Amino acid sequence: MNRKELIKKYLEFFKNKNHKEIPNSSLIPENDPTVLFTTAGMHPLIPYLLGQKHPLGRRLCNVQRCIRTTDIEEVGDATHHTFMEMLGNWSLGDYWKKEAIEFSFEFLTKILKIPIEKLAVSCFKGDRNAPKDTESAKIWKSLGVQEDRIAYLGKDNWWGPAGKTGPCGPSTEIFYWIGKSKALKKFNPNDKRWVEIGNDVLMEYNKTKKGFEKAKQKNIDFGGGVERTVAALNGLDDDYLADNFKPIIKKIEQLSGKKYKGNKKAMRIIADHIKASVFIIADSIVPSNTEQGYVLRRLIRRAVRYGKELNMKNFVTKVAEPIFKIYDDYKHLQKKKILNELEKEEKRFLQTLEKGLNKLKKIAWNETISGKDAFLLYQSYGFPIEMTKEISSKELGCSVDEKGFGRELKRHQSLSRTATKGKFKSGLADSSKETTKLHTAAHLLLAALRIVLKDKNIIQKGSNITSERLRLDFSFPRKLTEEEVKKVEKLVNKKIKESIEVKREEMPPSKAKKQGALGIFDEKYGNKVSVYTIGNFSKEICAGPHVKNTSELRQFKIKKEESSGSGVRRIRAILK
Ligand code: ALA
Repeated sequence: MNRKELIKKYLEFFKNKNHKEIPNSSLIPENDPTVLFTTAGMHPLIPYLLGQKHPLGRRLCNVQRCIRTTDIEEVGDATHHTFMEMLGNWSLGDYWKKEAIEFSFEFLTKILKIPIEKLAVSCFKGDRNAPKDTESAKIWKSLGVQEDRIAYLGKDNWWGPAGKTGPCGPSTEIFYWIGKSKALKKFNPNDKRWVEIGNDVLMEYNKTKKGFEKAKQKNIDFGGGVERTVAALNGLDDDYLADNFKPIIKKIEQLSGKKYKGNKKAMRIIADHIKASVFIIADSIVPSNTEQGYVLRRLIRRAVRYGKELNMKNFVTKVAEPIFKIYDDYKHLQKKKILNELEKEEKRFLQTLEKGLNKLKKIAWNETISGKDAFLLYQSYGFPIEMTKEISSKELGCSVDEKGFGRELKRHQSLSRTATKGKFKSGLADSSKETTKLHTAAHLLLAALRIVLKDKNIIQKGSNITSERLRLDFSFPRKLTEEEVKKVEKLVNKKIKESIEVKREEMPPSKAKKQGALGIFDEKYGNKVSVYTIGNFSKEICAGPHVKNTSELRQFKIKKEESSGSGVRRIRAILK
């Protein structure tokens, strides 16, 4: 049985039991601000699980796309995924444990024809919030499940809430035997050959900010994993060999010229992460440094890094190709847009990946990588902190000062918030020494251009600074002559030699304007801006950081002068 057949059978079964099918919603939850992604089919239903009347009634079912970020690091084994599809059926204050368990059992054994010998279950063993769930165990027994195949578990048999607050309760989980030998008589939940394929959450509680309280309405929330179930039904002990993964793995084999066997971990990570990324982009997220965009970035970059291990480069869109075919029942996957985003992010990361890895190896001789270094890797080489941690601990045998990284990040964020208010400076984020110097050089350059070209209308149109070079875009109608370029360079070097102090002051934007500071005054500034003054040569509104004295800049060199759109020129320069 393949993925599509499983989904069809499941929905048919529950519709026959008077359930109404609800839509497969966006991965970005609308009704639960406490989580980044839809991690289960119950997310879109939260208001109804809390008692609001659902327009389609009290019995619902669907298949829901989900993203589980908690499983990112787990991905690489045979059964974990960040993207998964979940079969779901719900009772909103309608049926309770008995019917719920009976429905699950009937579907698994009658419709999917799973022999009872291959099934085991677990029930909640009780804690101070809720008693032991002997009732569910009794129901399973009445259906023919042997005592030996029932385990009582603690934490694992408590579900939710999905976010910080919300509906939750004990669950009863269903396990499937994927071992090659006959299933062992006694169920051992720690034996990896027993794979959890679904669970009925018995939602009796609601967690509020104050703690657990009995829910006003008792609900059932069943969730079943499509990937694991399809694999199980096909006698596979590896989800990645089932029809919803195999074509992707095949593609990776083809592109890398390597076999799945021997490269399973990397290939699984690549396949899973790219699949998840396709779906996240489809729900209108683009890679960024915050929230869902950051998760997306992490996924793509982790895939790219594992691709490098298989000697693959520029492969992400190619690996994504078969995903559109497997999931052609999803009508919202805009292929062109998705491939475009994937390609951009891979290209961006490829520019720094190699250098970043070298840098990381160099600093890894320390037992602990400092927060500053981890931040440098994040900021200048685009390494998500989780990636730095993963490579450090698993491959280089050192740890990372995460707290220190957090402090650096915070410091940087407050800098860049000021920067976004000022908007006209980009690339301010990196506060490493070289970058700081280049920031100051950019101020000198802009001032020199205005003097040499005798044009007071020259303003900055954009800037991008890395620890290696600066790039400044400025308004000017024509190409600069060679002589002009030389003159500009000379003037900047003269100012460096003069060892001028760089002064920072805070003032309201109106005052800065009066003083003739350069800035873009149609942008929204806060009530206070910082103004950097270099003698009587340069005065600019800027969030910094800058050096204390121009002498720190050594020597300035213009590498290139070119056009950057109409009326805008671009200069690339370095410090030697
Ligand atoms: N909401 C339950 C789960 O995620 C069904 O497993």
